[in-house]
This record gives sequence, C-alpha cells and structure tokens, in this order.
Amino acid sequence: MSKIEIHDLQELIHQNYPQEMVEKLIQQVLILSLKVKKDYPDYKSWFLTTQVPGLYDNTRNIIIAHIKDKIVGFISLKKTKEEKKICTFYVEKSFRRNKIGTILVERAINYLEDEKPLITIPFNKLNEFTRIGEKLSWEITDIRENMYRADIPEVIVNGNASETSSNIVLPDCNKSLKKIYRKYRIERLKMLIIKSKIEIKSFV
Ligand SMILES: CC(C)(COP(=O)(O)OP(=O)(O)OC[C@H]1O[C@@H](n2cnc3c(N)ncnc32)[C@H](O)[C@@H]1OP(=O)(O)O)[C@@H](O)C(=O)NCCC(=O)NCCS
Repeated sequence: MSKIEIHDLQELIHQNYPQEMVEKLIQQVLILSLKVKKDYPDYKSWFLTTQVPGLYDNTRNIIIAHIKDKIVGFISLKKTKEEKKICTFYVEKSFRRNKIGTILVERAINYLEDEKPLITIPFNKLNEFTRIGEKLSWEITDIRENMYRADIPEVIVNGNASETSSNIVLPDCNKSLKKIYRKYRIERLKMLIIKSKIEIKSFV
C-alpha cells in the first residue's frame, strides 16, 4: 500500500495552511462521514454548525489519514474541560486492517490527553472496535435502545455509568455480540434488583 499520512486539521489551521485546502479536506471528511452517519438525524447540519466551528475555536479537532489526495479514514474529536469525546471514527472499508484505525486512535488520545474518552458505537459495529478498546481497557458503561436509531442499540463506552449499568470491559472479539448483550442485560437486571431491594428496605 502507498504511504499513509496523518494530519490534524486544527494544526493545519494554526499553521495557516491555505483556507481553500482546509475547506476541501473538511468537505471530504463530511462526504466520508455521511457513509457511516447517514442514519443519524441532522448529522450534516450538526457537522457544519458544531464540528467545523469547533476546529477554529479549539474545542474540536479532526485527524485524517490520507494516501496522496484521498482521505481513507478520520477521527473527529471534542475536547472541552467537561468532555473528551470521540464523535466519529471511521476507516474506509477497503483500507481496514492496515493499522490506520490504531494510528488514528493513538493520535486522538494524544490530542485529548485521555486514554478513555467517551465514544458511542452502534451495537452491530462493536466487533470492529473490540481489539482497539481491549488494548486501552475501554469499558462499556451503558447500552441504550432508541438513542439514534430504533433498530440498533447504541453502546456507550467510557461514559458515566448510569445507576442501572454495570461496567463491562470490552470483551474479546471472539465472543458473539449476542452473548455480550445477554451478559449486559443480566448484569443490568441484577443491578435493578439490588437497587429495588435497597429502596424497599429504606421504605420499610
Ligand atoms: C473500527 C475501525 C475504525 C477500525 O479500523 P482499522 O483501520 O481496520 O483498525 P486496525 O487495522 O488498526 O485494527 C485494530 C485491531 O482491530 C482488529 N479488527 C479490525 N476490524 C476487525 C473486525 N471487523 N473484527 C475483529 N477484529 C477487527 C484488527 O485485527 C486489529 O487487531 P490487532 O491490533 O490485534 O492486530 C473500522 O473498522 C471502522 O471504521 N468501522 C466502522 C466504524 C463506525 O461504524 N463508526 C461509526 C461510529 S463512531
């Protein structure tokens, strides 16, 4: 494969890289991200009104992987005092399993100064993230139904664990997603039972 280069859009802006070139890169990232975010309501408008201005006020960043002029992957980030978050993380299908994802996530962690940033992952894509998450000890803190889409639950990783959730370290990729979900539901049920017992006790 030809040489992969990594660039950080915030850095390019600070280095006075030509504005029209930055805009071209942003446009390319948008096109790429629509492949994976097409089901997310108002994604395009969020990207243009929140993610892009954030590049200029230093609250957001996008790190891109490209081969010559073609962007093959990117990771978009939010970094404020309150929240360190991976908003979107994507590598083009035909370029996967070449360590591009690993390099992007390393750069992201370096920028965010946080090894466990918040990220939400559609349940059906969890397998693709498990090795990366496993190495960084990422934890599932919740699984929410009807968050973005009615048909696929969203897995919250490294979030603030809700009262009803138990933290589950991202399991190895060989475990089936069904098993993970079943384990998660059992753990959550246990937590609910414990919680209701405590509530009953304090009532009696
Ligand atoms: C997750 C993703 C970014 C990984 O990118 P990548 O370039 O393939 O990652 P890497 O090549 O660095 O692989 C990292 C590890 O994961 C493993 N891996 C990658 N894809 C895998 C899969 N489908 N199943 C199991 N393991 C997988 C690799 O073998 C590698 O393991 P190793 O470090 O032990 O060798 C990519 O699969 C992707 O873009 N998926 C869709 C993302 C998505 O839905 N985003 C929206 C929500 S943010």
